[in-house]
Amino acid sequence: MLEVKRLCKSFGGVSAVDDVTFSVEAGSIHSVIGPNGAGKTTLFNLITGIYTPSAGQILFKNKDITGLRPDKLARLGMSRTFQNLQICMNMTACENVMLGAHLRLNHGILAGMAHLRKLVRQDAACREEALGFMQFAGVGQYGDSDASQMPFGALKRLEIARALATKPSILLLDEPAAGLNHTETGEISELIKKIASSGLTVVLVEHDMKMVMHISDHVTVLNYGTKLASGTVAEVRQNPAVISAYLGTTAQQEK
Ligand SMILES: Nc1ncnc2c1ncn2[C@@H]1O[C@H](COP(=O)(O)OP(=O)(O)O)[C@@H](O)[C@H]1O
Ligand SMILES: [Mg+2]
Repeated sequence: MLEVKRLCKSFGGVSAVDDVTFSVEAGSIHSVIGPNGAGKTTLFNLITGIYTPSAGQILFKNKDITGLRPDKLARLGMSRTFQNLQICMNMTACENVMLGAHLRLNHGILAGMAHLRKLVRQDAACREEALGFMQFAGVGQYGDSDASQMPFGALKRLEIARALATKPSILLLDEPAAGLNHTETGEISELIKKIASSGLTVVLVEHDMKMVMHISDHVTVLNYGTKLASGTVAEVRQNPAVISAYLGTTAQQEK
């Protein structure tokens, strides 16, 4: 589904992502882990077209997507959420999710004005669909609530609902459990598993090791921008380089 080949990105003198290669199988949950500053978000920004790589190649469904813009990638079936929530607080919950669907339906403002009635009809359908995605993500009850009135945990789910509304084949989640309590983290894990069983491929950056080990099919470990290891949960757990660089420090937390 996704292949990252010898990917590099440097900012001035800092190699944020340095010669990283891995591939993500269709329908799997693939996690990218690593300490703060390891290059996880930069990697996501490269894959989703926010940054242009300094070197290397990215293939999505066997198509070279290196350097393509985020809107192009969205149309090809790639969607993401952000480490820092990107929700429009002056809109309702449902409107936020409709934004996601509009990305797919949008024919441009002028075309929209020329086909106003069609647009209104489409909006009704779009709204219904948005509510469906909200229900799926467990925030259906917030329908027309102002986003600014929603609790943080619900906003994290709302952002996932909006990403799903673009009907992606791959979903990239940057720290979906950040800031959530234990119960909410468990609920987000279940949602991610539900998304994968509905046929989507999920790539996840996450700090919560227990969650990663619980839900991932495959794990890639980054450290100082380089790939330390990539494999199944069991393989990565036993990798000595991973244990000394990362897992060793969090093994206590896992218990
Ligand atoms: N836009 C940027 N400009 C300069 N340096 C950056 C930028 N984004 C990330 N970095 C640097 O790249 C490294 C990796 O950061 P990041 O990808 O955010 O790590 P992670 O998400 O794993 O915590 C860090 O040293 C960070 O300071
Ligand atoms: Mg990050």
